[in-house]
Amino acid sequence: MMTILTSQMSLFLLLLLFITTFHKTMCSNHTVVQCNEKDRETLLTFKHGINDSLGRISTWSTKNDCCAWEGVLCDNITNRVTKVDLNSNYLEGEMNLCILELEFLSYLDLSDNKFDVIRIPSIQHNITHSSKLVHLNLSSFNFDNTLHMDNLHWLSPFSTLKYLRLSGIDLHEETNWLQAVNTLPSLLELRLKSCNLNNFPSVEYLNLSSLVTLSLSRNNFTSYIPDGFFNLTKNLTYLYLRGSNIYDIPSSLLNLQKLRCLDLSQNYFMISSSIEYLNLSSLVTLSLSGNNFTSHIPDGFFNLTKDLTYLDLHESNIHGEIPSSLLNLQNLRHLYLSYNQLQGLIPNGIGQLPNIQYLDLSENELQGSIPTTLGNLSSLNWLFIGSNNFSGEISNLTFFKLSSLDSLDLSNSSFVFQFDLDWVPPFQLTYLSLENTNQGPNFPSWIYTQKSLQLLDLSSSGISLVDRNKFSSLIERIPNEIYLSNNSIAEDISNLTLNCSTLLLDHNNFTGGLPNISPMSNRIDLSYNSFSGSIPHSWKNLSELEVLNLWSNRLSGEVLTHLSASKRLLFMNLGENEFFGTIPISLSQNLQVVILRANQFEGTIPQQLFNLSYLFHLDLANNKLSGSLPHCVYNLTQMDTDHMDSWYVTTVVLFTKGQDYVYYVSPNRRTIDLSVNNLFGEVPLELFRLIQVQTLNLSHNNLTGRIPKTIGGMTNMESLDLSNNKFFGEIPQSMALLNFLGVLNLSCNNFDGKIPIGTQLQSFNASSYIGNPKLCGAPLNNCTTKEENPKTAKPSTENEDDDSIKESLYLGMGVGFAAGFWGICGSLFFIRKWRHACFRFIDRVGDKLYVTLIVKLNSFRRN
Ligand SMILES: *[C@@H]1O[C@H](CO)[C@@H](O)[C@H](O)[C@H]1NC(C)=O
Ligand SMILES: *[C@@H]1O[C@H](CO)[C@@H](O)[C@H](O)[C@H]1NC(C)=O
Ligand SMILES: *[C@@H]1O[C@H](CO)[C@@H](O)[C@H](O)[C@H]1NC(C)=O
Ligand SMILES: *[C@@H]1O[C@H](CO)[C@@H](O)[C@H](O)[C@H]1NC(C)=O
Ligand SMILES: *[C@@H]1O[C@H](CO)[C@@H](O)[C@H](O)[C@H]1NC(C)=O
Ligand SMILES: *[C@@H]1O[C@H](CO)[C@@H](O)[C@H](O)[C@H]1NC(C)=O
Ligand SMILES: *[C@@H]1O[C@H](CO)[C@@H](O)[C@H](O)[C@H]1NC(C)=O
Ligand SMILES: *[C@@H]1O[C@H](CO)[C@@H](O)[C@H](O)[C@H]1NC(C)=O
Ligand SMILES: *[C@@H]1O[C@H](CO)[C@@H](O)[C@H](O)[C@H]1NC(C)=O
Ligand SMILES: *[C@@H]1O[C@H](CO)[C@@H](O)[C@H](O)[C@H]1NC(C)=O
Ligand SMILES: *[C@@H]1O[C@H](CO)[C@@H](O)[C@H](O)[C@H]1NC(C)=O
Repeated sequence: MMTILTSQMSLFLLLLLFITTFHKTMCSNHTVVQCNEKDRETLLTFKHGINDSLGRISTWSTKNDCCAWEGVLCDNITNRVTKVDLNSNYLEGEMNLCILELEFLSYLDLSDNKFDVIRIPSIQHNITHSSKLVHLNLSSFNFDNTLHMDNLHWLSPFSTLKYLRLSGIDLHEETNWLQAVNTLPSLLELRLKSCNLNNFPSVEYLNLSSLVTLSLSRNNFTSYIPDGFFNLTKNLTYLYLRGSNIYDIPSSLLNLQKLRCLDLSQNYFMISSSIEYLNLSSLVTLSLSGNNFTSHIPDGFFNLTKDLTYLDLHESNIHGEIPSSLLNLQNLRHLYLSYNQLQGLIPNGIGQLPNIQYLDLSENELQGSIPTTLGNLSSLNWLFIGSNNFSGEISNLTFFKLSSLDSLDLSNSSFVFQFDLDWVPPFQLTYLSLENTNQGPNFPSWIYTQKSLQLLDLSSSGISLVDRNKFSSLIERIPNEIYLSNNSIAEDISNLTLNCSTLLLDHNNFTGGLPNISPMSNRIDLSYNSFSGSIPHSWKNLSELEVLNLWSNRLSGEVLTHLSASKRLLFMNLGENEFFGTIPISLSQNLQVVILRANQFEGTIPQQLFNLSYLFHLDLANNKLSGSLPHCVYNLTQMDTDHMDSWYVTTVVLFTKGQDYVYYVSPNRRTIDLSVNNLFGEVPLELFRLIQVQTLNLSHNNLTGRIPKTIGGMTNMESLDLSNNKFFGEIPQSMALLNFLGVLNLSCNNFDGKIPIGTQLQSFNASSYIGNPKLCGAPLNNCTTKEENPKTAKPSTENEDDDSIKESLYLGMGVGFAAGFWGICGSLFFIRKWRHACFRFIDRVGDKLYVTLIVKLNSFRRN
């Protein structure tokens, strides 16, 4: 009270002072008083370090009154600068905190720009007056920690600060951050999210008693919060400690009787007694998701927080049944319990939660049928109950009054669906997942009535029959994602124009020509169907396309410039079709996977293919390609460097027609397959220096040349097939270094000399070597003791390659990329489960607890 009074008083006195000072000027001259000279200089100094490429502060020039500058506000009596707000202006360069020398500044917001350095002048020395600063926001846009500060000592003069936001600034060197903010007695709000804070220093006396909002999310404290920390923050109302690696909830948290919003998610702590008695009667939103409770929900847990409207416990390793005390939470609007191990039934009283809007029980082990009371929840917006062990019937009664339903997930369940053919649901959905449920053979007719669908997932649901007209108009109007994989739909959709960004129709029986696709399409998988004809001209402008899979259809025609607008394309699979003509040369530079296998492509392999620096999988096998291999194969840097630039981390398993052959596409298996073509000429030695290649297949061509010693450096090699060519010379001893080699075929060439001794090379049987009349040694016949052979071969071995074995060994040392990389990012990107998880639970910028809704909207807005 005292401080507020005195500050108000002094403000008042100041005002008086300035009114009298400027009164004369104002009256005698009717023009506006120019801004203070000192202020202008300070602002110009601040501007000096900024790179304002978009001209957002171009008004900041000596010609104008600085009070009229963009983002600057002056007191309209004193004309001193009181507020500078440059939020989100794409300013780059240096953020010079000399701006804090503005004597009357009370509000400074420089957040969400693109500054790359902060300069902190020794402000303390220059701030002799008492600061007026109340609001300071320097948060950075992406929380990406580009900005960095050694310490927070500079904060100490700003004793009037009430709002301090420094989120996203790297403060890991400031080990005493708490001490620094503890000098700010008026603080109401402190946000230090994603600041790389790594300890919770103890302070003797906590000064933060006025604090209302505290966000310390996304740090890495690796410690307990000192007990008693919350003893003196009794006004705390909003507390965010999401993903900050704290070990437990301090019991002093229970002092926070004004707490309305509590986010302790993603800390991996176990259940503690504090949870059981979270006697926080003011709580409105509570998030404890992403912890590791390894326990059931304590009985009394739901008794004490009657105002709760938002409860998030997803992915928290919770066991046991859903306690019926849940029904005490009569104000609940959001309930997220997904990704736990909950068992038993859905409590029958669920229909008595009158306000519930978002209900997510998916990915648990719940059983039984869906209580019919659920059909009474007329405010229900989201119903996610997929991936449980539910059984029983789903009928019009289940959805009796659900007129607000917007998103429905019943996926991966064995419900029996009992809808009348003419049932018209009381809702219009935007999101519907019935993946892996029993729907077929008819496409569920009620889905045709849904006019606002943005995402439809009916993969693996046994559908073979559709109503042609209704089906056509349904899939034409869905703007975002369509998943119909693994059904037996045999429609001709060649006359349709599909507007979705993701289209997965693989493993069906679609016939006729390819459909027209909107330019916004991003991911198209039409593999394993019976599409025929050529790629439509309308595909010429698929500029957003990243993934295209047409594997195993009956497509034909030439592929010339059809995909040249797809500059983002990174996965292109045209394999197992009847395409002909030459290989297209205007291709996306981002290609990581190129599969043209088993077509009728002819002509030479264009050099452009070998200049794709992200390529890790090249399969041109089974075509009619001729000519020799260009020397520029060495430009396939992805096959050569041990780090992976690829973000297309997925494993695609393909089955080739008529063969029992499983085919993997994965950054884990860098592949070059040029087999079964008419390639001839000498193989460039550079090919044997692509040390990360795991599969190399050149078999069934007319290639010649020697295997150079450098092959010993290709230590990741798992499968090498050079059979049925005209390779000659000795098998270099260095090949014995290929420890991972599991498949080797050198048969039917002109190799000579003795097969080198080495555990690996002898572990293959004779079939790997036969058809080389001059080759001998285990596993083939013993060599005759004639010494001529090796001797005559000697001179040529010496100049077979300049590189020494040592170098090739050295080159091969960058192994191990695979395990590490795969372990972290492996298959995250396109695996469905993850997509769904992400769809709902990505942690969004800002401390809003209502993440889920936002994420949902973002997902829909994705393009
Ligand atoms: C009033 O303003 C004008 C122009 O801004 C200036 O030229 C003039 O000197 C001022 N008069 C007084 C009395 O300050
Ligand atoms: C000064 O500006 C404030 C806010 O813009 C306004 O409310 C107030 O009336 C102004 N005072 C004078 C004297 O113009
Ligand atoms: C402090 O102010 C003096 C003059 O007032 C100036 O010369 C000096 O550069 C300022 N110090 C810093 C660190 O900005
Ligand atoms: C806590 O809040 C109340 C009312 O909001 C206020 O009167 C009191 O001064 C605050 N306490 C502190 C220590 O700031
Ligand atoms: C957190 O800190 C611990 C110990 O300092 C460290 O081992 C760990 O890698 C850090 N975690 C993150 C995500 O930075
Ligand atoms: C915090 O308060 C509790 C009682 O509310 C008390 O038992 C404890 O000693 C206090 N801790 C500190 C460090 O002051
Ligand atoms: C969760 O706790 C269990 C039991 O203590 C432990 O085995 C498991 O590793 C923990 N999981 C995580 C993600 O910390
Ligand atoms: C929770 O409340 C119910 C009634 O609402 C009561 O029967 C039960 O005993 C309470 N449980 C605890 C642990 O307080
Ligand atoms: C649900 O379907 C049954 C049988 O098809 C019908 O008799 C009943 O009227 C329907 N109920 C509602 C609420 O639509
Ligand atoms: C596709 O149709 C053919 C014959 O029309 C049939 O033999 C085959 O089983 C069907 N495939 C699928 C996946 O339904
Ligand atoms: C596609 O349109 C053409 C011309 O309008 C028509 O002849 C053909 O029957 C249509 N095909 C399908 C499968 O509807």
